[in-house]
Amino acid sequence: MTAKAIVDPRDNVLGRARVTDTTELEIFYGELAKRNAGAFWKRANAIEPWEPETRYRPTLWRYAHMRDMCLRAIELVKPDEAGRRVVTLLNDSDAGRENTAVCGWLFSGMQAMRPGEITPAHKHTASAHRFIMEGKGAYTVVDGHPITLGVNDYVLTPNGCWHDHGVDAEGEVSIWQDGLDIPLMNCLETNFYAVYDAPAQAAAFPVNDLPQSYGGAGLRPEGIAAWDKAYSPVMVYRWDAVRDALRNLAEVSEGSPFDGHMMRYANPLTGGWALQTMGAHMQRLPGGFRGKAHRHTGNVIYNVAGGQGYSIIGGQRFDWQTHDIFCVPAWTWHEHVNLDPVDEAFLFSFNDFPVMEALGVRIEDVFKDNDGRQICAL
Ligand SMILES: [Fe+2]
Ligand SMILES: [Fe+2]
Repeated sequence: MTAKAIVDPRDNVLGRARVTDTTELEIFYGELAKRNAGAFWKRANAIEPWEPETRYRPTLWRYAHMRDMCLRAIELVKPDEAGRRVVTLLNDSDAGRENTAVCGWLFSGMQAMRPGEITPAHKHTASAHRFIMEGKGAYTVVDGHPITLGVNDYVLTPNGCWHDHGVDAEGEVSIWQDGLDIPLMNCLETNFYAVYDAPAQAAAFPVNDLPQSYGGAGLRPEGIAAWDKAYSPVMVYRWDAVRDALRNLAEVSEGSPFDGHMMRYANPLTGGWALQTMGAHMQRLPGGFRGKAHRHTGNVIYNVAGGQGYSIIGGQRFDWQTHDIFCVPAWTWHEHVNLDPVDEAFLFSFNDFPVMEALGVRIEDVFKDNDGRQICAL
């Protein structure tokens, strides 16, 4: 971050840097630079802003366009040459392009696979999760646990786990969204990657053993070895169960004025997030829902699981429909609206909240003016 050209009037107070440069100081700065040093007061206000200043912009990717791009990618590139034929979603900002980021220190992409194809087995220190958008017969194998995948299912591939993906020969072309913390791992310089010594893992456990053992709401299996991993043992969260849980909640609760009815994909053993660095939610906006605006630290990437509406993000309106993807950068006002007066809408989203919580910097603010809603040009 470079020093600001225009000095913020708020900076003209005791406790902020407000040094007037002189010829002697300029000479001093030059001498510091020769010694790999600098004057902190020259940069202090820029690197310690009054509040978070995101380098990312709200961005929306239309499924109609991106689906087409994914299908072209699998026509043009062979899976054994590309490794993963992912179309990367790049935030509409210099930071997004430089960091290969969808928003903040998060990566996201979309990939399509044809029946009979596989993504070669590999592992990395980046955590990953996916949201299935269309198809039939998709599956993943995580550390020898085979997991079948259906539309709107949410599946984990935690950091350090061997994983490969595929679509059964009798299945259909399948498309999903990937979310990873690759930019965060690169920022922290902790990124390792390895390929498996075979194209795909052999199943070491029965198909769906983990979701069938741990996926019963409020139930925990006895008589099997205790789960000792830092991530959720459920591994896949089925759409039908998530949707029904939200509808049940809606019968007894008005939900949040910002998010409607919302469920966290939780580790049932702890109640915490399913992964250590990324969280995910599914939310239900009742027919006619007109949410209020808030903002918070952390970045959120949405995938419209169903319905039609719009979100106002940083004062700009983004209309969305099923499987459009959009992002809300850190500390940016946002509110959601379901345009259908009767039918519910569902938004899947993933975020970096677990990192914010671990570092003690998960902070929220509520929009107070205009009955809690942003003034939007459109
Ligand atoms: Fe991977
Ligand atoms: Fe939010």
